Amino acid sequence: MGFFFKESMSLTQRQIESFEQNGYLVLENFVSQEDCVKLRVRASEIVKYFDSSESVTIFTTNEQTRHSDRFFLESGDKIRCFFEEEALDENGDLKQPNEFSINKIGHAMHDLDPVFDSFSRTEELEAVAKDVGFKDPRILQSMYIFKQPKIGGEVGCHQDATFLYTEPISVKGFWFALEDASLENGCMWTIPGGHRNVLKSRFFRNKTGDGTEMEILDDSPWDKSKLVPLEVNAGTMVILHGLLPHMSYANRSKLTRHAYTMHLIEGNADYPEWNWLQRSPEMPLRGF
Ligand code: FE2
Repeated sequence: MGFFFKESMSLTQRQIESFEQNGYLVLENFVSQEDCVKLRVRASEIVKYFDSSESVTIFTTNEQTRHSDRFFLESGDKIRCFFEEEALDENGDLKQPNEFSINKIGHAMHDLDPVFDSFSRTEELEAVAKDVGFKDPRILQSMYIFKQPKIGGEVGCHQDATFLYTEPISVKGFWFALEDASLENGCMWTIPGGHRNVLKSRFFRNKTGDGTEMEILDDSPWDKSKLVPLEVNAGTMVILHGLLPHMSYANRSKLTRHAYTMHLIEGNADYPEWNWLQRSPEMPLRGF
């Protein structure tokens, strides 16, 4: 099965400079509408066949935090579905059907699902990765984000390097709008040029390995007056620098806002064992 991109293989010098200047780059019509549909259909199949009983148990047990931490921490080399925080009512029942309750699928779709593997590993994307500075890009994680109608939660302002840390910092995000993203359904916002900030925090596994903590490196607040919305059409690709602050507000509309995202790191960068995302030795990171 082949995925075809409309853009030429390489970025222009102007696009590369724009990325370096702003910390992000918007590439419209990068993915065909047909391919957006293919990915949306595949994601709905994954949700349909996902056994949600385990996750419902997690959200309703007394030891919720410990169980949900483990469910999350073990997902680096698996395909798991995560509920929206507002998905369950006080009795532990889903307020909406399964397909409208999942927040995201993660985190190794690019390795384990043939459709997402095929979409994620193309010469075009490898060329873009090289153009934005990678020498030996490795795909670290992939996520399918639903941003569900009514209950799609806010994602607070953050830098991706907080969650996917390497030395030196090398993470970059490839984000694909699979549906139109607008102010109404919770589009992404960024602070142009904000990637020139220092890393403000690091998210890591605690010493026992069964929970997580946030280490604050710089507690100055983000200047939210500088945030600009990225209202984009389905098929748009956005490249995000790992230090770029970005966020999205809750989706209270009747529309979904589906997106697929993958994060790349440099092959020779040091990947600490305290990063939350760890994979089994049988599944080493691969590039394109
Ligand atoms: Fe992010």
